[in-house]
Amino acid sequence: MARVLITSALPYINGIKHLGNLVGSQLPADLYARYCRARGHEVMFICATDEHGTPAELAAAKAGQPVAQYCAEMHQVQADLARGFGLSFDHFGRSSSARNHALTQALAARLGAAGLIQEVAEKQVYSHADGRFLPDRYIEGTCPNCGYERARGDQCENCTKQLDPTDLINPRSAVSGSTDLEVRETRHLYLRQSLMREKLDQWIDSQRGWPLLTTSIARKWLHDGDGLQDRGITRDLDWGVPVQFDGAPWGGMEGKVFYVWFDAPIEYIAATAEWADANGLDDAAWRRWWRTDEGAQDVRYVQFMGKDNVPFHTLSFPATLMGSGEPWKLVDYIKSFNYLNYDGGQFSTSQGRGVFMDTALELLPADYWRWWLLSHAPENSDAEFTWENFQVSVNKDLADVLGNLVSRVTKFCRSKFGETVPEGGEHGPREAQLMADLTARLRAYEAQMEAMEIRKSAGELRALWVLGNEYLQEAAPWATYKSDPDRAAMQIRLALNLIRFYAVVSRPFIPDAARAVMAAMGCDDWSWPDDVAMALGTLPAGHGFTTPEVLFAKITDAQRGEWEACFAGPR
Ligand code: 2FM
Ligand code: ZN
Repeated sequence: MARVLITSALPYINGIKHLGNLVGSQLPADLYARYCRARGHEVMFICATDEHGTPAELAAAKAGQPVAQYCAEMHQVQADLARGFGLSFDHFGRSSSARNHALTQALAARLGAAGLIQEVAEKQVYSHADGRFLPDRYIEGTCPNCGYERARGDQCENCTKQLDPTDLINPRSAVSGSTDLEVRETRHLYLRQSLMREKLDQWIDSQRGWPLLTTSIARKWLHDGDGLQDRGITRDLDWGVPVQFDGAPWGGMEGKVFYVWFDAPIEYIAATAEWADANGLDDAAWRRWWRTDEGAQDVRYVQFMGKDNVPFHTLSFPATLMGSGEPWKLVDYIKSFNYLNYDGGQFSTSQGRGVFMDTALELLPADYWRWWLLSHAPENSDAEFTWENFQVSVNKDLADVLGNLVSRVTKFCRSKFGETVPEGGEHGPREAQLMADLTARLRAYEAQMEAMEIRKSAGELRALWVLGNEYLQEAAPWATYKSDPDRAAMQIRLALNLIRFYAVVSRPFIPDAARAVMAAMGCDDWSWPDDVAMALGTLPAGHGFTTPEVLFAKITDAQRGEWEACFAGPR
């Protein structure tokens, strides 16, 4: 048994996330957390809402609400949707928590003491029309790196380059659209990341087996120097973690807050402290996950995120933790994702394009989405959601392969033997062959899950379902029954056990369906099938079950057409 710390990139508070956001971090992180738990590991799975910075302020202003109230309400909405999708966080925190305020200020103080923070007089864009400075997303313009015309002041979402608002070509205010802008001087704290280049370089070099997507992005920013320029970690905003320590303002920084990308990853740690608080536990309970002098040396820490987040997690956040000089746990493996596109274009929060988490759950149960998203995760390249592909995948994999097996076996058993596992004779060579095939496939599934190869894992799981179907096709208990009812009973006893086996191994992907199937089998034994033959003897003859309702309904052509049309424009 190992201890595994898993964090998902924190969703911005500014509204409901679309399916592209979901599959880019939270959902695959959940898959892995569920798998690790199923294998008996001790798991701490953390996520939170990312509540500071310009995204929050802009969204609150648009909603006409005070930002604190907006964040509190939107956190609840996101938490409910996360539950709806079966995301099994141990804690879903808030980056605006008291814990994060305290930890962010404490880490900044440590960095200051280590000489890694410098006060810099810098030029910032000031908007006359808005009467304020325009940090980060308050400003939009053309990316100097790739020419994308809607780049934001903090990062270009097209080429992932981290930007300063003054870098943008043809800048305009995101609040008013005004181009009546002026560059003025203001003072800010800078994190001197450049002093840590060598240390970070060595650290990244020493990581074996990180996905290419992760290391190539990290190296790119490290070696062309860009990602390691000293960066401003404070902002002229009202909402955020005040730049102070122990209640005392940092001289000259009154009225300023830390930059959202400084405090957000610190919330991974703070949210674990929030978890301890919420469960009435002491500090040692969360510190054993995060402090290598207090137990975290035995922890394996895995992060999940979209590719645009990689520079912050491979450079800025490690620089914060290393630079503090304290024994914080650094990430062991970063699983990063490309983008999921929507039907010939991009998902877009600002334009309301695509399917969002709330509407998805209004259309269909979470498992339909989970299965499609995970089995099409954008791992090696960008992927695309189309309604046709979604329909095919749900109807074939879930309804025809898994759902149909469950329904045929239970209904046949009910009609011939009643709703109890029949006795029947001994297994024969075809059953032995099935066990051997299942064992080989299961080991392959485990290997892919351990490697966090999400699509390949889905492929192996589907192959496990197919083996059961092939067996039933050949064994054909409905035909056997006529000449040899005892043998048919044995086949059905095995098939009922196979259904329970599928509930266990499928649970990380489709937890609600797995629970329904397990309940129908009158069982609550979720132990992992280390020994397949033994696992397929779990339900003994005479054990009662119920015949479940339709597990997965097929998506009709009419539904598909309706949804295609309904989601064609902005919502
Ligand atoms: O890109 C995003 O959606 C950010 N909110 C991710 C933050 S991850 C972490 F560092 F907090
Ligand atoms: Zn760009």
